[in-house]
Amino acid sequence: MDSNYREMRKRRKELMLQMEPNSIALLAAAPAHARNSDTEYPYRQNSDFYYLTGFAEKNALLALIPGRKEGEVVLFCQGNDKLKELWEGKLLGPEAVCDELGVDDAYPIADIDDILPGMMEGRARVYYAMGKDDQFDSKVMDWVKVIRGKAKMGDHPPSEFLVLDHLLHELRLLKSPEEIKLMEQAARISAEGHRRAMANCRPGIKEYELEAELLYTFTRGGSRAPAYRTIVGAGDNACTLHYDANNCDIKEGDLVLIDAGCEYNYYASDITRTFPANGKFSTEQKAIYEIVLKAQDAAIDAVQPGAPWDAPHNASVKVITRGLVKLGILKGRPAQLIKSEAYKDFYMHRVGHWLGIDVHDVGDYKIDDDWRLLEPGMVTTIEPGIYIAPDNTKVPKKWRGIGVRIEDDVLITKAGHKVLSKGIPRTVQEIESFMAESTQ
Ligand code: GLY
Ligand code: MN
Ligand code: MN
Repeated sequence: MDSNYREMRKRRKELMLQMEPNSIALLAAAPAHARNSDTEYPYRQNSDFYYLTGFAEKNALLALIPGRKEGEVVLFCQGNDKLKELWEGKLLGPEAVCDELGVDDAYPIADIDDILPGMMEGRARVYYAMGKDDQFDSKVMDWVKVIRGKAKMGDHPPSEFLVLDHLLHELRLLKSPEEIKLMEQAARISAEGHRRAMANCRPGIKEYELEAELLYTFTRGGSRAPAYRTIVGAGDNACTLHYDANNCDIKEGDLVLIDAGCEYNYYASDITRTFPANGKFSTEQKAIYEIVLKAQDAAIDAVQPGAPWDAPHNASVKVITRGLVKLGILKGRPAQLIKSEAYKDFYMHRVGHWLGIDVHDVGDYKIDDDWRLLEPGMVTTIEPGIYIAPDNTKVPKKWRGIGVRIEDDVLITKAGHKVLSKGIPRTVQEIESFMAESTQ
């Protein structure tokens, strides 16, 4: 059993310790989705399921049954099938699964309807991802009905149904050293992709040509997919937050905003850089860029253990509002403009989000009504931006259509924080020098 699986065994144990007495947890693998006829979309395991098993195959179900004498961790998976494996590749199969994944017991998924109700019988509570997948919800109810049908014979169906998400997602929020290593590797590969795109940018090419540089680098680095759809927005497109058509010309004088990150071994990175297509910022572009950079510095400084979740956001709002007032884009007193949220015309999203197995990772941001405090092991993005809509007639023309975001991935440590996404030009000078060197 490799160390990866030892870690997953530890996660399962921690989760089981937190489950209510006399309960069972059921977690299904992600369903496969048909693209057309017999072609499927690329399969990607459910993040919670992967976190607890490290198992990437479809058609599987994990049952956690604390205190079950014959074994607490049971995995149902596809049975070995020579013909299927000839077409689709090797399946681990129930026999190998116990050794390879460190689970106690495994059965073919084809037999689940015969076996699982017996395991649920007598358990008062069932944890599962209620309300996320109609088919799975109805499957759970089918199994409960089977036990109910035998009530006269003395079988006890479960009577309480609980969502598993909260317990599990609190575990996922705090990353182990192994997870942080994977996140660092994801960030390293993405950083190389960003450098490659920046180095290959010139007016006259299409946005998708830069996307290609990123995707090439991700795959070369061992990533099997981007963590989210890559954004390459040139000129006005940089002001559309989730622009991903990536099919326009990159023109002389444009800023290019690239928001791209690979997924490596199931861990996401999420990085944004904004740079001038021709390698040199205009006066206006530079003025806006410098504000966002300063806002990012202030927000990263505010990432400290014990600080409330919204401290980095508030730090970025302050810098951006003051900066926009100084340029005359916002008019009034910064304190008043912050109170009235006037900055939201230009900075309409929050400064970041949890990052982990998912790009917008799980974990609560508030505990009761209060922002939660940052703790070592959490990872957040820090990504302030200013976007001046091309049709914002309240702003002098020279500013319109400028969109800037700078995004990095930051781990909270005992001593403060650590930026995981290192090694990509970030200041005006770094970007201009890097691009000048790249064209020689
Ligand atoms: N790339 C998605 C985000 O930055 O949140
Ligand atoms: Mn992003
Ligand atoms: Mn992000």
